[in-house]
Amino acid sequence: MDTLANVSVDELAEPLTYPVEAFVSKEYAQAEGDRLWSKVWQHAGRVEEIPKVGDFLTYDVGADSIVIVRSAPDTIKAFHNVCSHRGRRLVDIPAGAQCAHGNKTGFVCGFHAWRYNLDGKCTFKLDESDWKGALTEQRTSLNEVKVDTWGGWIFINMDPNCVSLREYLEPAASILDPFELGRMRYKWRQWVIFDANWKTAIEAFMEPYHVAGTHTQMLEHGQYYAYSAAYGLHGVSGFDERDPTMKMKQSTTVTRAGKGKDPRASTYALQNEIYTTVNKASTTETLVNAAKRLVDELPEGTPADQVIKHWLERAKADDAARGVTWPTITPDQMSKAGLAWSIFPNMAILQGITFALCYRARPYGDDPHKCVFESYAIERYPEGGEPKTEWVYADPTEANWGLVLSQDFSNMAAVQKGMRSRGFRGTLPNPHQERKITNFHRNLARYMRAGAPSVLPSGSK
Ligand code: FES
Ligand SMILES: [Fe+2]
Repeated sequence: MDTLANVSVDELAEPLTYPVEAFVSKEYAQAEGDRLWSKVWQHAGRVEEIPKVGDFLTYDVGADSIVIVRSAPDTIKAFHNVCSHRGRRLVDIPAGAQCAHGNKTGFVCGFHAWRYNLDGKCTFKLDESDWKGALTEQRTSLNEVKVDTWGGWIFINMDPNCVSLREYLEPAASILDPFELGRMRYKWRQWVIFDANWKTAIEAFMEPYHVAGTHTQMLEHGQYYAYSAAYGLHGVSGFDERDPTMKMKQSTTVTRAGKGKDPRASTYALQNEIYTTVNKASTTETLVNAAKRLVDELPEGTPADQVIKHWLERAKADDAARGVTWPTITPDQMSKAGLAWSIFPNMAILQGITFALCYRARPYGDDPHKCVFESYAIERYPEGGEPKTEWVYADPTEANWGLVLSQDFSNMAAVQKGMRSRGFRGTLPNPHQERKITNFHRNLARYMRAGAPSVLPSGSK
């Protein structure tokens, strides 16, 4: 493995390669706990999951488990999910469940019944005097984990010396703040234990370069040439135009004109296709319905930018009428935010004005060939009008996930297999359209101290 040399951000524009150990090596997977997962901020849930004091949820990553609890109306705390006495897992995760969650006034260990309050303090040890005063608060409290929120997500970090969440997320957080993601609520959430490394899984959502080869049906209504850019730990991609006459600020985002002579019809065709094949996500019913009316509301020959402007104004008014307020996002902010973000290491956000489609992939124990894969849609609802959702285990079928996700799943499993082939010469990521992936490996290598991307030697090697 390449342990020392690493590329610069500027070199991401060069033809690069990165090794496959990160995807297939058992030793690498085992090292991730110490070098990566115990050091990074990672999203552990949404604030909406724990609205009341005593509400809690668990978050597992590799061998670690964290309990997150609302300990006071304005305070969320996180602890290692382990009893201070002899190390029993404090909160059990029910078999087959994505996590444990519920409401408690405190936690009681199932082994010898030590008790903890919501602040993590041990409030009862049976026969405490047997320890002759050695059971100090410091020894017996739950081991606290850093926790903070952004965009409606709860993030945790096991490293007590970590930088603040805000610093970690920048500049992605500032670029995405105008979308007010914190005001969105779950629309649906699904998870599956999948036969691929967590990186194979999350990388399937880091670039639209695969659309032409994977989601061939989508080429009828849109083109998917994309740029991708590195922002420190994180990265973004957005639609790019091969045809300069199509370029406009909205072109980089998901709310854009479709392909075809009549942008009124093509915009609807594209929106309708996204809605029906991406599991009712990546757009909204409001946007689809407003797009459907474009042919009636606008004269033939209306230019694409006028079509988009009218469409968004109408959709905004439709949403306002049902109590959904749109955030104020300038065209420049919209354009800069692009289409899809990767938040290091394992989170993807495909944002829109009132919605986002998100992915997370986590290691499954220390098996490099399996992961816990999760996808969920969030959307802005009228106050209190959000649906009640739970994590639903969903096998990776078209019926469960829609056509587009099922196509992505078929690649993920096959990539995991292919990377184990002794005939594979090494990765050749696209320097323009897959830079998010090479930036991910550049950053991953800094944590793992292995696996850095390198510039491909020029010529025929
Ligand atoms: S291990 Fe928890 S009370 Fe003994
Ligand atoms: Fe895809």
